Amino acid sequence: MEIVETIADLRARLHADRAAGRTVGFVPTMGYLHAGHVSLIDAAVAADDRTVVSIFVNPLQFAPGEDLADYPRDLAADTAACAAAGVDYVFVPDLAEMYPRPVETVVTVPTVAAPLEGVHRPSHFAGVATVVAKLFAIVGPCRAYFGAKDWQQVAVVRRLVADLSFPVEVVACPIVRESDGLALSSRNVYLTEEERRQAPALRRALDAGLALANAGETDAAAVEAAMADALAAAPAGTIDYVAAVQADSLLVDGPLHDDIRLLVAVRFSKARLIDNDGARIPRRGPDDRGALSSAP
Ligand code: PAF
Repeated sequence: MEIVETIADLRARLHADRAAGRTVGFVPTMGYLHAGHVSLIDAAVAADDRTVVSIFVNPLQFAPGEDLADYPRDLAADTAACAAAGVDYVFVPDLAEMYPRPVETVVTVPTVAAPLEGVHRPSHFAGVATVVAKLFAIVGPCRAYFGAKDWQQVAVVRRLVADLSFPVEVVACPIVRESDGLALSSRNVYLTEEERRQAPALRRALDAGLALANAGETDAAAVEAAMADALAAAPAGTIDYVAAVQADSLLVDGPLHDDIRLLVAVRFSKARLIDNDGARIPRRGPDDRGALSSAP
């Protein structure tokens, strides 16, 4: 495994790999790797001939007052995890390498970025889309692996890849959870002991919403109310949103139908946690005014 610090160096290595006919798998991260990241790396190692992991805490995606300065970092542990998982290149550019001067070019995906996270972190996805576009331009043709925990981020990235014709196949990998259901996140280390005890309520909220949707409830507000009720088990947290939406648009266009996504975001004292899960509402017959009807 090689540690690569410059854009030119990474490009040269990947160019040689492609010239030799090797495929490239790319896992973009901000470091502080956990088993969720390792599952992305495992998917890349299994599917591609060369695996690149980038570790870069991207300041563009943090708003003033967010946790940029405190964001957990442990490069030694990260490189050890990458080596153990069979990574070929760990790309660790510093700030001057990525942004040698103030960034003038910003990538925005406004419609996809607007709801949910966009309401609470309005500048976040422009920062993500800009750095991901830059990383794709550096890495070149690849399969890029993202965690489904950041469902809206995956939607933003898919759209930017399609709109800007990046030669990248986006692969969304399943959420990895603790045994009590808490989705793995680098930010879980911010939870106090009591908050950590309450945090699995996010998973329970998704379960409550899924139970209702699977029982045939197509009213998004009713599903969301059940999710919010379940979050009463986490009184230390403040709900940013609970949402039952169409999985592709992240919007509600009438009664829930086909592939839906349930999403939650809860703020604890220092950690803000997000989670999501999906369901498929079966199509009903033409006489049934349930799932497919948009009439009241
Ligand atoms: O998901 C993350 O860790 C980040 O948003 C990403 C994709 C690495 C961009 O900085």
